[in-house]
Amino acid sequence: MYDLKKIRADFPMLRSERKMQGHPLVFLDNASTTFKPDRVLEAMDRYYKEETCNSHRGDYDMSVVVDGRVASARKTVAKFLNADPKEIVFTAGATASLNLVAYGYALKFLKEGDEILLTLAEHASNTLPWFRIAKLTGAKIRYIPLTEEGRVTVENVEKSLTPRTKLVSIAYVGNVLGFIAPIKEIARVVHANGAVLSVDGAQSVPHMVTDVKDLDCDFLSFSGHKMCAPTGTGILYGKYELLDQMDPFESGGGMNVKFYPEGEATLLPPPSRFEAGTMNVAGIYGLQAAIEYLMEIGMENIEAHERELKAYAVERFKQIPGVTVYNATSEAGIVAFNVDGVFAQDMATFLNSKGIACRSGLHCAKMLPLVIHTDATVRASFYLYTTKEDIDVLVDAVKKGGNFLDAYF
Ligand code: ALA
Repeated sequence: MYDLKKIRADFPMLRSERKMQGHPLVFLDNASTTFKPDRVLEAMDRYYKEETCNSHRGDYDMSVVVDGRVASARKTVAKFLNADPKEIVFTAGATASLNLVAYGYALKFLKEGDEILLTLAEHASNTLPWFRIAKLTGAKIRYIPLTEEGRVTVENVEKSLTPRTKLVSIAYVGNVLGFIAPIKEIARVVHANGAVLSVDGAQSVPHMVTDVKDLDCDFLSFSGHKMCAPTGTGILYGKYELLDQMDPFESGGGMNVKFYPEGEATLLPPPSRFEAGTMNVAGIYGLQAAIEYLMEIGMENIEAHERELKAYAVERFKQIPGVTVYNATSEAGIVAFNVDGVFAQDMATFLNSKGIACRSGLHCAKMLPLVIHTDATVRASFYLYTTKEDIDVLVDAVKKGGNFLDAYF
């Protein structure tokens, strides 16, 4: 049984008496970031209070302990994704991971006339690195057409592939509309075309089971902070044979064997090659604790809970006249909506006055208006601790806000 009460009790932010504008906080901005359970904070505390030292650099007992914990965290991430630990690179977040694929892989292997396929629904982090690579290599960006509702389909990927397509980079789950892309089938057609598939998993990995072997994607990027882990943590999964061919994006300590006055250096194999400098050790402790926590609850249970919330929210929103929901048919626990005649930012500001945290605007997906034909939306996004009561508070406020803001303007 999904014990929502017990789950909520694990989160200091949910136990807190903190008010927003005099109201209890209703946090519906989980696609931006998520709350952290006690055990994540305790794990980080343990590092800072009992085990502070660098990893990879000491010959003393405590540093061996810390190295062991980093290695153990890598194993936990690998198990979570069904990967091999040597395919797991610790990064600062999904943005850093995607940039590593861009500058470490694409910059080395793409050349003038090659094509990179994206969609118009991608987040800035899965668009702008590719714009830079296109400028630097002479490769061309092309877009896979989306269906009218905003879905990416295998058929449209297949139609978009050409002999020049070398890399396809798409989100597994979109950060505004929340459609799940059929990554496994997409990987098949991308590979049949001889191209590489990079997946932005920032909005998928926190919410559902991820099996990289089954998906057969080449790269998968995601952040820790969207899945109960600390900010500044992230993962790049890459197939080892691809990681092994890649250049580092950052160079420094911890990623080389030796370097010489002539300007030559021998680099370590992956994943160390991509982990220059002091790692975010406290963050890695926290990330491991977060993944263990999510695995205990069960990713399939978390997904089922969020699907139930989504269906509930869509049903409740349907009953409010003048509300447009842009993604009623998508799978993820995200509702993107507008109220007739009310600017999205005004609605979000009104919701704030009721203690409700939602994001409004373009949500970093700045080409999405070309797909959904509206400049901005309000986005309510759910997570494992969200309740139907949270959604009721939102829906009731939207009803009043629509009237109030309409009358005002
Ligand atoms: N990527 C985060 C979002 O979609 C910040 O809100």
